[in-house]
Amino acid sequence: MNILFVGDIFGSAGRRIVREHIGHVCEANEVDLVVINAENAAGGFGVTPQIAEELFDLGADVLTTGNHVWDKRELIDYLKSVPADSQERPRRVIRPANLQPGLAGYGIFEGTTQGGVEYAVIDLQGCVFMNTTNDPFHTVNAMLASVKAKVILVDFHAEATSEKVAMGWYLDGRVTAVLGTHTHIPTADQRVLPGGTAYQTDVGMSGPYDSVIGVEKELVLHRFLTGMPGKFEAAKGNPKMCAALIGCDPMTGRAFSIQRIMLGE
Ligand SMILES: [Fe+2]
Ligand SMILES: [Fe+2]
Repeated sequence: MNILFVGDIFGSAGRRIVREHIGHVCEANEVDLVVINAENAAGGFGVTPQIAEELFDLGADVLTTGNHVWDKRELIDYLKSVPADSQERPRRVIRPANLQPGLAGYGIFEGTTQGGVEYAVIDLQGCVFMNTTNDPFHTVNAMLASVKAKVILVDFHAEATSEKVAMGWYLDGRVTAVLGTHTHIPTADQRVLPGGTAYQTDVGMSGPYDSVIGVEKELVLHRFLTGMPGKFEAAKGNPKMCAALIGCDPMTGRAFSIQRIMLGE
């Protein structure tokens, strides 16, 4: 089976370029499962219920998020609108599993593809150079004990390359893919690890590349040059859709291929 994982959608430029390409990419590669990181889809900061619905309309099965998950407060009620065992769209938006206990939403979604393959998607956030969370390694280890599906995708939303590489090795042979997000620049290290886990340190942002990781470059430069605060706005120029295409055996969940995708205008 083939799985498409789309990296952090950033703002309207990111949504537009994904809308342009996702259909033909899925058709040409006979994609069975589509997962999109949507944490920056609403103007670069968070995701609204309306934008989540738009992404589901484009064919997403699951939306992952990250440190920007709470930027749009209306998402909290959306996440709370369905019970834990629901298969409805609000349940398919997940947030990092290792956040503080008691928050809205869940860090895992377990579903079945149209072709009848059971799968799980897990969202985790890194500890290094990021806000305090619970340890992602022990969190995912405990979670995997109760996952029945063989096909398991992990979005590791983290800043440090070392932490992401370590997670790849930690989960090798236990999940289908460990895909890095958050740093917004695609890395060229995609490979299948010896145990059958597809890995990429960062899938890359789906958004405007004439920017500083999605934000208008003049605004970011001003902050670096002056140290003065200022409002960040999503850039528009040179949008690319960045994604990873993973081929795996649905019976064992082992990956046999991972391909990097970057498509522009
Ligand atoms: Fe992001
Ligand atoms: Fe992030």
